[in-house]
Amino acid sequence: MALRPRILLVDDELRTLELLAHALSRESFEVELATSARSAVEALRKARFEAVVTDVFFDGSSDGEEILRASRELQPQAAVVLMTGQPALETAVQAIKGGAYDYLQKPIDPVVLGAKLQRALRERTLDRDGLVFGDLVEILSGMVATTIERIDPYTAGHGERTRRYCDLLASRCGVDAATRQKLELAAIAHDYGKIFLDDLGFLTKAGPLTPAEYLAVQRHPQLGAEKLGQHTRLREVCQWIAEHHERWDGTGYPNRKRGAGISLPGRVLGVVEVFDSLATKRSYKDAWGLQKVLDFFETQREQAFDPDVLDQFLPLLQAHGEEWMARPNLDRSQRHSGKDTPGPAVP
Ligand SMILES: [Fe+2]
Repeated sequence: MALRPRILLVDDELRTLELLAHALSRESFEVELATSARSAVEALRKARFEAVVTDVFFDGSSDGEEILRASRELQPQAAVVLMTGQPALETAVQAIKGGAYDYLQKPIDPVVLGAKLQRALRERTLDRDGLVFGDLVEILSGMVATTIERIDPYTAGHGERTRRYCDLLASRCGVDAATRQKLELAAIAHDYGKIFLDDLGFLTKAGPLTPAEYLAVQRHPQLGAEKLGQHTRLREVCQWIAEHHERWDGTGYPNRKRGAGISLPGRVLGVVEVFDSLATKRSYKDAWGLQKVLDFFETQREQAFDPDVLDQFLPLLQAHGEEWMARPNLDRSQRHSGKDTPGPAVP
């Protein structure tokens, strides 16, 4: 794979092309533009691309299908993502059958597209080149998640979802791609410390914890950071894990860090993992609805959470929250990784 993955972006709407090209360039992609099927096929004949993102309908004709066919024939290694304003299910099914990696409905959220492309490229790297750092993250994530899930089956999928949401939110907050890759590991392993608590029974207890149990469970961020290992490459990952229950107002744990004293990835992780804990059923509570979750975050602005991070997260939640909450395990079967982690009680 090239140092900067090359993406061919095809659409007859210039405004869409410019917006997406700008966003993908910030994601470290090298973007080439085409405004018709003909110019796209020419580009595919001239240079290698890691992915092709193309509109389906050009002036009423479905040239996207031609671009998909040409991509499969000329550059079978490239992941093809189709975009369209026509949300017909049959079209989507047809696209996937035709070999597309995925199918997005317009208007396209550049953050979602960027995350999808990053994932597609990681998966293709695994297919071609054997193990690289990203693959090791996948494998270790699966092992850690499966271990944690064994002691708290209520939290199936929590780590995987936290990882996915974290990546989207961190991207919106301006966190660079390399840091986000490490943050994925922290997201998966954020509750790893729970398996080292002396008493595991109360993790699946119905109803509230006793003061003593709550005190005991507060050890898990630091325990997780310590037990994950001392490798120098993991230093920041361990820091973010240790920070995931710190609060913006300084009343969190274990170190009562406050404000910008908590790292940005730690603040992102804190927001996202609370969201998933609220949005899914736990031993001590039912899943909350989207509006209740949104109201909760507003009440916790500048208390539990960084207001700037919330300003990035709440629009994401308004746009995608219903879908995420309706199908929380959507991505699990599509991943190489195994399972996930538990979440904390509501702060
Ligand atoms: Fe936690």
